[in-house]
Amino acid sequence: MHNFYIISLYFHSWNRWIILIFGLLTLWYAWSGSKENAAFPGKAKPINLIFISSLHLQLLVGLLLYFVLSPITALALKDFGAAMKDASIRYWAMEHSLMNIIAIALAQTGSILARKKATPRQSHRTVFIWSLIAFLIILLMIPMGIMGPERPWFKF
Ligand code: HEM
Repeated sequence: MHNFYIISLYFHSWNRWIILIFGLLTLWYAWSGSKENAAFPGKAKPINLIFISSLHLQLLVGLLLYFVLSPITALALKDFGAAMKDASIRYWAMEHSLMNIIAIALAQTGSILARKKATPRQSHRTVFIWSLIAFLIILLMIPMGIMGPERPWFKF
């Protein structure tokens, strides 16, 4: 079980970079796509697909860490009230997990709503706005010391 915890944490840590890179690419393609009124989804399709898939994978591993593997959230699950009073446990049990779930839902919603727009420009703009909000939340909720604890940027 312990090894599986370590492997999952490494995966969760490195997958963050896929999310950030493909999040930025999604924003770039959506921005330039709306300026040029490029076909939708067009070139942006595989980029957005990787972004959304890596988010879903992160959610899955995140839930696994939260409910099965992590000794930190295990403390919270045992006594949630007490955990909420401890900022370092609350960060993982509430802020990090909940805000990232919201961000993932926003990114997913944007890409669904975009399909229903009348023009390619509107579709690209929809992806841009929803993904931008999601991206900013994710950036704030990565444990790099801006809010909450700091963990290694590159986990070796
Ligand atoms: C885009 C979304 C997310 C990103 C970028 C992200 C990123 C990270 C990073 C970088 C760490 C630190 C890993 C390390 O120690 O090196 C971490 C830890 C953790 N994440 Fe996430 N995460 C995301 C979503 C989630 C979600 C949705 C959940 C739960 C539902 C979750 C649960 C956890 C838990 C429980 C830990 C700490 C585990 C421990 O140290 O024992 N994460 N996350």
